Amino acid sequence: MIARVNNVTITTILIILNFIILVHGASKVPCYFIFGDSLLDNGNNNNLNTEAKANYPPYGIDFPNGPTGRFTNGRNMADILGELLGFDNYIPPFASATGREILQGVNYASGSAGIRNETGSHLGNQIFLDLQLQNHHNTILRMVDLVGNRVATNAHLNTCLYIVGIGSNDYINNYLVPKHYSTNSLYTPSQYATLLVQQYAQQLKTLYEDGARKIALFGLSQIGCIPQELQKHNTRKCVDSTNEAIQLFNEKLKSLVTNLNNNFPQAKFTYINMYSISSIMSTYINLNFLNYPCCNVSTTTAEGQCVSGQAPCHLRAAHMFWDNFHPTENGNVIAIMRAYNSFLPSDSYPMDISHLIQSG
Ligand SMILES: *[C@@H]1O[C@H](CO)[C@@H](O)[C@H](O)[C@H]1NC(C)=O
Ligand SMILES: *[C@@H]1O[C@H](CO)[C@@H](O)[C@H](O)[C@H]1NC(C)=O
Repeated sequence: MIARVNNVTITTILIILNFIILVHGASKVPCYFIFGDSLLDNGNNNNLNTEAKANYPPYGIDFPNGPTGRFTNGRNMADILGELLGFDNYIPPFASATGREILQGVNYASGSAGIRNETGSHLGNQIFLDLQLQNHHNTILRMVDLVGNRVATNAHLNTCLYIVGIGSNDYINNYLVPKHYSTNSLYTPSQYATLLVQQYAQQLKTLYEDGARKIALFGLSQIGCIPQELQKHNTRKCVDSTNEAIQLFNEKLKSLVTNLNNNFPQAKFTYINMYSISSIMSTYINLNFLNYPCCNVSTTTAEGQCVSGQAPCHLRAAHMFWDNFHPTENGNVIAIMRAYNSFLPSDSYPMDISHLIQSG
């Protein structure tokens, strides 16, 4: 019995030493896992049969490796947060993560994916949240192989930061597209938000059971203000009905965070208020200032995404929107800085990511 405990202890110490070498002691958490949609995807859709992919120019024009599948001109929010956390390398996409790098984290996010399995399916295949969790399960089995045992792997997983940004597509590529999905006729906005958050609660429980203890949940941004919505409604103002539906989801998600923190005292969940953080979008729109996308967007297939091979705008740093859905790199910087270090008390609940990672 004692020998077994010692074995585990020694293994744990060896693993910790290993990580210190791996990350040069620089990062503020030993590992960081990412779940979500195109706001966080860094290449998982590249080999999927879907219109929701971004591995072609002008995507990536400001990224060192060019187009990688990130849905913006440069770094996405997952990348910038990784830098704030002190990682030397970007967390690899699940699609290509190999060997020991998985010990530092994996990015499972997939463009057009949602909480619901069917979300985004009119665009092709995507890795919906249930599948992302299955992929994480497979990663953990690989980690156990690398580490040597389950106990030490679990101890390691307990120290990681987890971020989850999902739900936008359950509106943009589901509820708001009655032509392809029945949810809009089956549920009121309030019923739909409840349904989404109930399913999300189950998925987060799975993540917890797989060892997650520090989990940041990104609320939905002002989707009623994205260029795609303005175009669809042929208006120059944010679409209130969409923002109201989004806020119902956000309010329920915030309540879920309270419940999760009460029910799982060993874990810390926090809500990132992307809705208020993204109010800068409505400011741009109300001021009528560069409130259109930087790239020339498609009106046919992959509607609202950049047309392949066309030069984007020059003043990329001043634009908030890259294409009809996604912020520019600068928009991502502004949003994630506030998620990491709250600028206003309302930016996060009950704490920002910098405090989440320090919590015991
Ligand atoms: C969603 O997909 C997962 C994984 O394939 C499956 O286990 C689950 O039953 C599906 N859910 C629904 C509602 O179809
Ligand atoms: C934008 O795309 C359309 C359709 O492909 C094309 O006709 C137009 O010339 C493009 N505009 C610019 C500025 O590249």
